[in-house]
Amino acid sequence: MASSSAVAYYIPYSSTFFPNKPPKFNNRRRNPVVKFTCKAKNGETSPGKFDRRDVLLGLGGLYSTTSLSANPFALADPALPDFKDCIDATQPDQTLINCCPPSASGIKNFVPSATTVNTRMPAQSVEVGSDYYNKYTAAIQKMKNLSPSDPRNFRQQANVHCAYCDGGYTLQGSPKLLYEIHNSWLFFPWHRWYVYFFEKICQNLIDDDTFTLPFWNWDAPQGMQIPSIYNSSVISPLYDCFRNPDHLPPTVIDLEWSYGDVPVDPETQIKYNLAIMHTQMITQSKTPNDFFGNAYRAGDDITTLDGAGQIEQTPHNHVHTWTGTAVDQSNPIDMGTFYSAARDPIFFAHHANVDRMWSIWLNNLGGSNFTDKDWLNAYFIFYNEEAKPVRVRIKDCLDTTKLGYKYEDVPIPWLDVSVKPKPRATAKTLPSAPDPAQVFPTTLDNPISVIVKRPNKSGTGSSEEILVIDGIEYDKGNYAKFNVYINEDNVDASHPDNTEFLGSFSNVSHGHLMTVTMKTNKQFRISQVLEELGAGDYENVLVTLIPKSNIPVKINGIKIVFEDS
Ligand code: C2O
Repeated sequence: MASSSAVAYYIPYSSTFFPNKPPKFNNRRRNPVVKFTCKAKNGETSPGKFDRRDVLLGLGGLYSTTSLSANPFALADPALPDFKDCIDATQPDQTLINCCPPSASGIKNFVPSATTVNTRMPAQSVEVGSDYYNKYTAAIQKMKNLSPSDPRNFRQQANVHCAYCDGGYTLQGSPKLLYEIHNSWLFFPWHRWYVYFFEKICQNLIDDDTFTLPFWNWDAPQGMQIPSIYNSSVISPLYDCFRNPDHLPPTVIDLEWSYGDVPVDPETQIKYNLAIMHTQMITQSKTPNDFFGNAYRAGDDITTLDGAGQIEQTPHNHVHTWTGTAVDQSNPIDMGTFYSAARDPIFFAHHANVDRMWSIWLNNLGGSNFTDKDWLNAYFIFYNEEAKPVRVRIKDCLDTTKLGYKYEDVPIPWLDVSVKPKPRATAKTLPSAPDPAQVFPTTLDNPISVIVKRPNKSGTGSSEEILVIDGIEYDKGNYAKFNVYINEDNVDASHPDNTEFLGSFSNVSHGHLMTVTMKTNKQFRISQVLEELGAGDYENVLVTLIPKSNIPVKINGIKIVFEDS
């Protein structure tokens, strides 16, 4: 089993390592590439030895054997993946990769009904060499040792993520549209089910149905670095060499990380991270749309929707890009890009914590799930612990105890962190800047500031004001990020624990054979923010956008609207 072969990957030749300067406009879609190798010392079966064409035709062709009606979309309005046609996905160097699962004989509906509830624990509390560690590593090693054609094989499991997000499936009923589980309300439930089956497979392989995956507790200071179990110098199946060498322990994670960011001292970084968590989970996540992301239904073109929820963007995306390695932002590997993200075992701990945010939002913050049937009835297909394909619906994953797990009740230090306005000499004057109509549409290749008029405040009602960055266009295959500030005339001196920092827009690269241009919006709640800034009665606000990626993002406009308008 243990393979000592070097696995070849491609990373760019002509790039500087993490430049400290603001990125320059770079019109090239891809950089020239050179071969880069990483010794496979973690015992993973080399994927190169396996010619998938011999085995795979996808799950499709089997559709007729399912228990759904003959025409599954006659009733369906949810966005559903079309399993008849799993197609090759694309790697960042534009070569194709077959991520399709093995074909199978029949897909059954599955509704969980666990009778015991296991507790997922924070990864930082696990000691290398402990009993739990030994079970965990045994499970992952066994998964890596399974036949490459077994759908429970570790690489096959990683490929599930690739197939679902790098263009493996089209949307049922709309063969010209790609299906996708990021950038919409499918994000949380799809990943919950994905981690669930991964955990079930672990339990099955070590014959212990009390085993749980740990969560990477990146929202609390003790968890704000790569947990030691994933960084063991002992040869371990939890280790992945494709992590950013500058971000190994004890480096503190930056939950708003951008390529090229200059590190700050650990204490300051922790303070920023807690502020970011508070902003994202509380200030900016008031409704299910804020938290989960926006609707995605049958017939919808994912490239033109309102897009991702707050948590998917920050911190989720940045934990990916911070962890993965890349010579530059165009060619990340493993965690830094979606086709390969789940090849790093830390992916599942990252997503356990993302999933924990869902529990916290419901249980501690008064959030609620969607009641929309197109969300509840949307389904996905996974292979279960017995290597059988199952169809699972969102409505059946809303209660984690029915899935057989809950999260250890660890402190949530960001709940009452305060985010404060930056102290400044003059309070009431905004610098002059053009209005949006003079600037947009434009490509964001330099910082832009505009003065945006607020909607008529004379109206009644307490509806919140929403800042909308409208028509954000970017290539889904590339990393994209920009930061957004409000009433801030000196962004260099402004930090994530200042109220003036609203947050960011970001995209983790998804490979696609052709350029897939996404056009979406980003919204920020600003009523409370403006009150805190003492600007509740201003007629205008100053909005500043700072580009953080070197592939151009185009922006069509900025406006402020009332929430229910
Ligand atoms: Cu499907 Cu963290 O990504």
